[in-house]
Amino acid sequence: MQVLDGKLLSLTIKQEIAQKVNEIKLNDGKTPHLAAILVGNDGASETYVASKVKSCQEVGFKSTLVRLGADVTEQELLAQINMLNNDDDIDGFIVQLPLPRHIDEQKIVQAISPDKDVDGFHPVNVGKMVQNLPSFLPATPFGILTLLKRNHIDTNGKHCVVIGRSNIVGMPMSILMARKDNPGNCTVTLCHSATVNLKEEILRADIIIAALGKPEFVTADMVKEGAVVIDVGITRIKDESKKSGFSLKGDVKYDEVAKKASFITPVPGGVGPMTVVSLMLNTLKAAENKKIVQ
Ligand code: GUN
Repeated sequence: MQVLDGKLLSLTIKQEIAQKVNEIKLNDGKTPHLAAILVGNDGASETYVASKVKSCQEVGFKSTLVRLGADVTEQELLAQINMLNNDDDIDGFIVQLPLPRHIDEQKIVQAISPDKDVDGFHPVNVGKMVQNLPSFLPATPFGILTLLKRNHIDTNGKHCVVIGRSNIVGMPMSILMARKDNPGNCTVTLCHSATVNLKEEILRADIIIAALGKPEFVTADMVKEGAVVIDVGITRIKDESKKSGFSLKGDVKYDEVAKKASFITPVPGGVGPMTVVSLMLNTLKAAENKKIVQ
């Protein structure tokens, strides 16, 4: 069994990005600039956004964090998005999800200019992804593809089972693994809450991508010997022994599944760091695209 070290790979890729940023600064006198809108003060969202801002600093990007109260109106949020769409200094931006219940998430995502949608959530980018056209890929699926590619994991003709159909991970992941590409070219089964015989479906997988958000859901009896196991889950569990007051649990029961897997991602240190670095790659691409347009 080999551990897929997303932390280490993300450091390597950050160094590659930093080098490109230096070249852009030298040649064009510009600095790639990512903005993030954070609504309210959800603990997990705060952590994710802080790690995105920190990564910007590490690779040499400019970053702007726009904080809005949990009681912000949809109109006010749309106005903020409009400002970022029209701000020439901003190459790309994200609106951290989830949003408070009184705000229509779809309406917000669709208000982001597709050219600045470095999360790849806008229907224009999703449509391009489906047709294998150049686009921004959602950061978590993009990070998983990079992890598979850089570890030379053969996906061609394999049976991939994705568990969970969220717009952020499961749905795009199932499309990407089915695309005629490398990584990709898999036969894909997308499992969700209405799936009958879930265990039997997962047992058929050469590649398991667990993104359902239920801690330690995937157990060894559901996993075929030699499977590649990608754990997207990252749930906070109360843990008084930790300074933060919680520990992080993946969707896979790591210790027992690791004994059967050929490759497995740890939590933390697997998919998480790859998600953040993929957002940096998308931002770099947005800055480079802007140069082509100008
Ligand atoms: N919430 C959980 N994951 C993500 C992500 O990749 N992007 C945004 N904007 N919100 C998220």
